[in-house]
Amino acid sequence: MRCAAKQRDLSAESYNGFPNMGGTAKVQIIANSSRGNDKLPRDFLLQEATKNKEENMAELSELSAKLSEIKSRIESDLTGLTSSKAVFEYKKSVMDSKEGMIGSLMKEMGKIPKEQKAEYGKMVNEIRGWATEQFDALDSKLKAEEQKARYEAEAIDVTLPSKKLKKGYLHPNTQVRNQIVDIFGSMGFSVYEGNEIETDHYNFTALNIPKDHPSRDMQDTFYLSPEFLLRTQTSAGQVHVMESQQPPIKIISPGKVFRSDDDATHSPMFSQMEGLVVDEGITLCDLQGMLDVFVKKIFGEETRTRLRPSYFPFTEPSVEVDVSCFQCGGKGCKLCKGTGWIEVLGAGVVNKKVLEGCGIDSDKYSGLAFGIGIDRIAMLKYGINNIKLLFESDLRVLEQIDD
Ligand code: PHE
Repeated sequence: MRCAAKQRDLSAESYNGFPNMGGTAKVQIIANSSRGNDKLPRDFLLQEATKNKEENMAELSELSAKLSEIKSRIESDLTGLTSSKAVFEYKKSVMDSKEGMIGSLMKEMGKIPKEQKAEYGKMVNEIRGWATEQFDALDSKLKAEEQKARYEAEAIDVTLPSKKLKKGYLHPNTQVRNQIVDIFGSMGFSVYEGNEIETDHYNFTALNIPKDHPSRDMQDTFYLSPEFLLRTQTSAGQVHVMESQQPPIKIISPGKVFRSDDDATHSPMFSQMEGLVVDEGITLCDLQGMLDVFVKKIFGEETRTRLRPSYFPFTEPSVEVDVSCFQCGGKGCKLCKGTGWIEVLGAGVVNKKVLEGCGIDSDKYSGLAFGIGIDRIAMLKYGINNIKLLFESDLRVLEQIDD
């Protein structure tokens, strides 16, 4: 190669006496200066040019040595890298255009003789390609290892027993309400949600309890205004239902009611479940049969029902429904106060006046209604002796009741 270069240089005499000097700045200066100054002998110029050429050749071979050095340096450095992150950082440092072993090579380009730039560039690109391959190969090898290690570390044994989760409970009242809804739902009842704020008319007057009626005293309530009050009974819902639909009617209506009552078994706020059936030929027997199913499901199959005469202005006849004591089986105990019976709800045949007031033909239709105290059932069923325990949110009490 050196020889060929020499020959080319020598033949360069054909260039108007100027040799082809391989394009180095140094040589060109000499050549240019020789243009206006023919004092420099041609032989001298030729010699200078050849010398420069050789220097350049020396630069390229230096580069090639430098590249092999870089290669072996990289090869040995790579053996010390144990993570894909380290490979990434190392690659960045090597390829960095300012400081990097390979990146900075391009910076040198300016110093390279023009005719050798292409060769230089090619060599730099080659080592660049080579290094990238090395980095990528090590990177994918390490990444695969890292992934495997992560999968092993994060592996879940699906056969292990799970941690015992602290389970929440529905409030006893909610549990009982749901049970009652289920029982009557299975008998074809639908649920009607009434209003907690009622008018005097729906809560009393329409239920045959006019303003001066003494039974109002039993339900002394919270008036919001002379007209509006917190409902004292879910029976108010009966009127809404009968006003808005004709028989057959078969609804239950759960909800909160409010009365100025407060002792161990009474609270100013408690929950009721109203029941209403209106159709042709409905009698007290239907009531007894239905309630019998209900108490057996709630308190147990051996439970019996008993109806006692009672009085409610909106039912005629009216009854109190007792169940045989599920604690002593009817023999008499503390729970049933020695009577063998426990009172659980009020009921009756819907008063004709109420039917008529709601626009239902009382000659054609008859109805039955009942009102169950949800808190009372919960207290009886779960042995809670003070209604306040249902409102204190004491988990020691509530946690025991998961029916
Ligand atoms: N509303 C009555 C009460 O709260 C219960 C009841 C409902 C009685 C339906 C008869 C019929 O005491």
